[in-house]
Amino acid sequence: MHKDFSEILVSEEQIYQRCVEMGKEITDYYTAKGSIPLLVSVLKGSSFFLTELSKRINMDVEVDFMCMESYHGTESTGDVHIVMDLDRSIQDCDILLIEDIVDTGKTLKKVKGILNNKGARDVKVASLLDKPSRRVVDEKADFVGFVIPDKFVVGFGLDYNQKYRTLPYIGVLKEELYK
Ligand code: IMP
Repeated sequence: MHKDFSEILVSEEQIYQRCVEMGKEITDYYTAKGSIPLLVSVLKGSSFFLTELSKRINMDVEVDFMCMESYHGTESTGDVHIVMDLDRSIQDCDILLIEDIVDTGKTLKKVKGILNNKGARDVKVASLLDKPSRRVVDEKADFVGFVIPDKFVVGFGLDYNQKYRTLPYIGVLKEELYK
């Protein structure tokens, strides 16, 4: 385990196994719906999850990326804005938004609003992690990897001041490193 962590919350094996399951859930959902979603990943955090999950979706999906700036330190400001936009029209598309974590829900609300304003027909959300106890707006993911307690976590795309993203598992950062 990394020296800056107090515990490992989700192991590498658990992430891979859950991505296999979620890939099937998502494939079944869109097969029943009769459509193929465009996967939209919000950089940088969700790109690691996108890579693992998209391999398990048994459809000819396409992917696109947005970069939002939203988080400073460990607290969401809710003041999110686009740093890099999608490079195609999403008019009348079914979007599957890929998120790393839904915490307060403010970022998700903002990004869903942006995608709806761009003319998306439908926006569903797949999030690797969900921290429901921290929610301040009424938003939720449609497909969730792991529900976790109110702890600040890093790894598998999640960072603290841009660090720890490339770790292959999700760990709890020692409080003394950010408090
Ligand atoms: P929200 O707007 O509060 O839901 O925050 C969403 C964003 O905050 C995520 O996309 C992450 O970038 C970041 N975030 C929230 N909780 C954590 C955490 O425990 N570790 C790392 N980043 C987090």
